[in-house]
Amino acid sequence: MASGASLDLMISKDTIDKILDSAQIEDVIGDFVALRRRGANFTACCPFHHEKTPSFSVSPSKGIFKCFGCGKAGNVVNFVMEHEQLGYVDALKFLGRKYGIEVADREETKQEADNRLKSESLMAVSQYAQEFYTNVLWNTDQGKSIGLGYFKDRGFSEETVKKFMLGWAPGGKDNMSKAAQKAGYKKEFLIGAGLSLERDSDGELTDRFYERAMFPIHSISGRVIAFGGRTLRSDKNIAKYINSPETEIYVKSRTLYGIFFAKSAISKLQKCYLVEGYTDVISFHQSGVENVVASSGTSLTTEQIRLIKRFSPEVTVLYDGDAAGIKASLRGIDMILEEGLRVKVVLFPDGEDPDSYARKHGADKLKRFLEEAEEDFIEFKTKLLSAETRKDPVKRAQLISEIVASIAVIPDAISRAVYIEECSTRLNISEEILSTEVKKLRRKRQYGAYSATPDEYSEPGVPKYFPPLETGERLPQFITNTYCEPAERELLYYLIKFGEHPLYGTDDENPISVTVSQFVLSELQTDDLELQNLVYKSIFDEYYKIKERGQAEVQKHFLNHENQEFVKVVLDLLHQEHSLTIKQFVAEIPPEEHLLSTVVPKSILIYKAKITAIAYHNLCEHLAEAEKEKNTDERNRYMQQIQILMQIRNSFAKELKRLTI
Ligand code: CTP
Ligand code: MN
Repeated sequence: MASGASLDLMISKDTIDKILDSAQIEDVIGDFVALRRRGANFTACCPFHHEKTPSFSVSPSKGIFKCFGCGKAGNVVNFVMEHEQLGYVDALKFLGRKYGIEVADREETKQEADNRLKSESLMAVSQYAQEFYTNVLWNTDQGKSIGLGYFKDRGFSEETVKKFMLGWAPGGKDNMSKAAQKAGYKKEFLIGAGLSLERDSDGELTDRFYERAMFPIHSISGRVIAFGGRTLRSDKNIAKYINSPETEIYVKSRTLYGIFFAKSAISKLQKCYLVEGYTDVISFHQSGVENVVASSGTSLTTEQIRLIKRFSPEVTVLYDGDAAGIKASLRGIDMILEEGLRVKVVLFPDGEDPDSYARKHGADKLKRFLEEAEEDFIEFKTKLLSAETRKDPVKRAQLISEIVASIAVIPDAISRAVYIEECSTRLNISEEILSTEVKKLRRKRQYGAYSATPDEYSEPGVPKYFPPLETGERLPQFITNTYCEPAERELLYYLIKFGEHPLYGTDDENPISVTVSQFVLSELQTDDLELQNLVYKSIFDEYYKIKERGQAEVQKHFLNHENQEFVKVVLDLLHQEHSLTIKQFVAEIPPEEHLLSTVVPKSILIYKAKITAIAYHNLCEHLAEAEKEKNTDERNRYMQQIQILMQIRNSFAKELKRLTI
């Protein structure tokens, strides 16, 4: 069994505290970069991106660093993780060594031990399977002639086959399961890891993978967590690839094929190539291009994008020459832009994919081609779409809104301005129009099509019939996905910053004091609401979990969290001076603590109003549908539901008006 990860979560809380108390952030960072004192803080040139004038700042009093150039920020542990490319535990050990603190393993709680043992067992059995398939590949007749023969035909060197731990799953349908059980691996874990299936007839295990070339999928820390298996048959009825199902250790939306082998190159080159398949990744490595990962045929998720973003601010998406899917994938790329990454694209010549190109032309030509063929995404998209819309004004209008949609999601204002300028020239359309459109879209994104500001609700009274929106436009996915984000973020803001503050004081009428966190929780529970942003939701859930355990110092808990995403979100929230609500509604800002009884209920209402607005929008669509189909029953049902929603919106509106500062 591989060691290393088994130590996860096993450093005692005491030791962690001791390390965090001793580690002076300026002292630690000072080992790596030359710090200059500026007032209470230190500055330096950022070690994470290339710069000539310092925008990297270290605050000893807050114990944090932040680069105003590239945005990297965090505490001392995050710095070590980032700079040394270490996991949380290893970063702690690194600091422990520096300060002479012995990092002893602690006893775990039963629950922790169970969870760890379960994932550990799933990883152990996955590793066993990988070794089994690799052994079959190199040491059996079938493996050598069919499997290894295939990899060699594809141009993979022996070294490459070994590096990626490729294997061969033999025919026979239960060889691996049998061998694993004989070696002592339990049925439960073989099934749990997605490697074996239980046969209905007799409960015996059969192999998920047989007669397939095996590609193990590694976690970011290099453990085998899943497999892709390729058939060598060309029978159209057989799936070309079979992949492991989702398991406790393999969450597809969070995994990128090749990330373990690529991460240090991505971080060093500050650039990541994104390809489709296992073989593209492997061929690139063999050609010396190691900063490459694959989405493995599925569409990219936000979590995968954030994973890349941990290592690099730039992604280059590589397209097959004949990919019919390019247009379909454009929206997916907007997601990358939205995360604040720079996006470029490379289009391979007709009929070539990254793998075939690398194999055919060799390392030098591949590298040159990648450099020369690379284009900025928005330019690429403009060109791609404008080719087919040259003379048609309707299509042209569509094109412009497509481009505007991409520009509008970019978080950085300066980048947006640059794109607006460029696209204005290319599309021959005034900058002003483009920038107005972008602004409109951004406002819509931020506050939603139905803004929850009080003014919007100034007309009470329920109309009798609600036609669908006049624009007839569907809300684009990226809007519905991010629509509630600001409102959710605001709830989290109050929770993290003022969770334990009393919301209402006690008096004779109200003898019970309610804290902000109690109020927020009960309000959400009343309506069975869960935050939609998964990171926020996890932080939210964990907040209440640690409160239940009676743990004080919630902020500290999150700032020292092993999940870097949590650290970043909480850090940002704490840095945020005043909440959005307050900024929106008052000019002179009194201390926030004094306003909680107004602003917290207000945020809750705004959040609920947004959810209601989404429901309203959906219902209007259903209604339109029912109208079209002349389905009177449905139509009446939807109209009734819409009426109810309108009433709710009105009562929200009244309440919002009452809640003014
Ligand atoms: N894929 C999959 N299931 C399929 C087909 C494809 O999971 N039935 C995923 C695999 O991750 C694959 C990627 O989509 O690597 C790209 O598909 P494709 O280009 O068809 O496969 P390649 O890996 O390029 O395989 P080959 O070059 O051998 O055809
Ligand atoms: Mn291919």
